[in-house]
Amino acid sequence: MSGSVMIGLHGVTKNFAHTQVIREFSLDIYQGEFVTLLGASGSGKTTILRMIAGFEEVSGGRVTIDGVDMTGLPANLRPVNSVFQNYALFPHLNVYDNVAFGLRIKKFPEKLIKERVRESLNMVGLDAFATRRIRQLSGGQQQRVAIARAIINRPKVLLLDEPLSALDLKLRKEMQLELKRLHRELGITFVYVTHDQEEAMSMSDRIGVLAHGELLQYASPEELYANPASAAVASFVGETNLFDGTVVDIVKGYSVIQTRHFLTKAPVAEGHAVGSAVVLSVRPEAIRLGDSVGAPICRGIIMERIFAGSLIRIWVRVDEALTIQCLIHGTRNDEFPIGEEVDVIWEPNHSLAFPKEIKSLSEDSQLLGSNESAGQ
Ligand SMILES: Nc1ncnc2c1ncn2[C@@H]1O[C@H](COP(=O)(O)OP(=O)(O)OP(=O)(O)O)[C@@H](O)[C@H]1O
Ligand SMILES: [Mg+2]
Repeated sequence: MSGSVMIGLHGVTKNFAHTQVIREFSLDIYQGEFVTLLGASGSGKTTILRMIAGFEEVSGGRVTIDGVDMTGLPANLRPVNSVFQNYALFPHLNVYDNVAFGLRIKKFPEKLIKERVRESLNMVGLDAFATRRIRQLSGGQQQRVAIARAIINRPKVLLLDEPLSALDLKLRKEMQLELKRLHRELGITFVYVTHDQEEAMSMSDRIGVLAHGELLQYASPEELYANPASAAVASFVGETNLFDGTVVDIVKGYSVIQTRHFLTKAPVAEGHAVGSAVVLSVRPEAIRLGDSVGAPICRGIIMERIFAGSLIRIWVRVDEALTIQCLIHGTRNDEFPIGEEVDVIWEPNHSLAFPKEIKSLSEDSQLLGSNESAGQ
């Protein structure tokens, strides 16, 4: 990424009473980037956004915007604007007056306000709705008013905290495209917050994955998916099967891994040594069923299958303690019937083994929250 840093978080911490909810958080966001903070409920996303906006002071470290230290600067003097989940519109005012509100407070002349309101409403496709009351608008339209109101000040940065979570799925998809278009047209920096990994993946230039107030990884969606830094990130960004195991040998660039159910190998990675505990991650789409030429990795019985056109999602039960999720491409609906016994196969190069973190994984995934789209 080139260009200048628009937002800098430098070792930022936040305490509420005696609890530290943000720990040593550092992150650079470049001018014009679309960056998403992704994390489970309570991971600290809103708190970070509020510290950037100035609604909350940092307890330690500093926030810079466009190279200027924001410490002690009140929210109304920062070059940012925010859009929140609940929109916070004035229900008794019409669309025009809601959008004009910020400029009226700043005592801009009415003529200029009129021009700017037009421009903003035009941007969000609401030109025809200026005189409507807020109550007479749909959820999606209200969301657009909130965005028009936020961009009328021409901020350098737009902060969006789960702005689409109140909308139904179809409208949410539409508004995602709308926001991407706005981002392109405005050319300003967007910082977006969501706990929906699919939304984060489809919209962002870079994603910061948070868990309990810490940044686990900050990278492009592609990089996060292909090279997650930990088992926690792998299970939060996309779906994956995780297996506890131990490295029993290291041969020619591969760690040989014994799990409770099978022996396999994975590319050697940092932290691997004979005897070390690892968590093996295998994405459902990396798995093949039923046609092994050599030895399969394990065998199991098809317990459940969901046909979805070009993809079939299949759950293979190895034993009462282990069910593996698979995503099979371009197959017919009569393949892999429930009850059939199959070989389970994957390429070692399509698996990753992470050193086991000190926290137990089950504890970790609990803290991360469950990945919404996993296990469906
Ligand atoms: N004003 C406050 N006083 C005390 N604790 C707070 C306050 N605001 C937030 N917290 C705590 O800080 C932690 C992070 O909260 P935050 O709202 O930033 O999470 P979040 O990631 O935005 O979650 P969600 O997805 O549910 O919106 C939580 O444990 C929360 O209870
Ligand atoms: Mg929040």
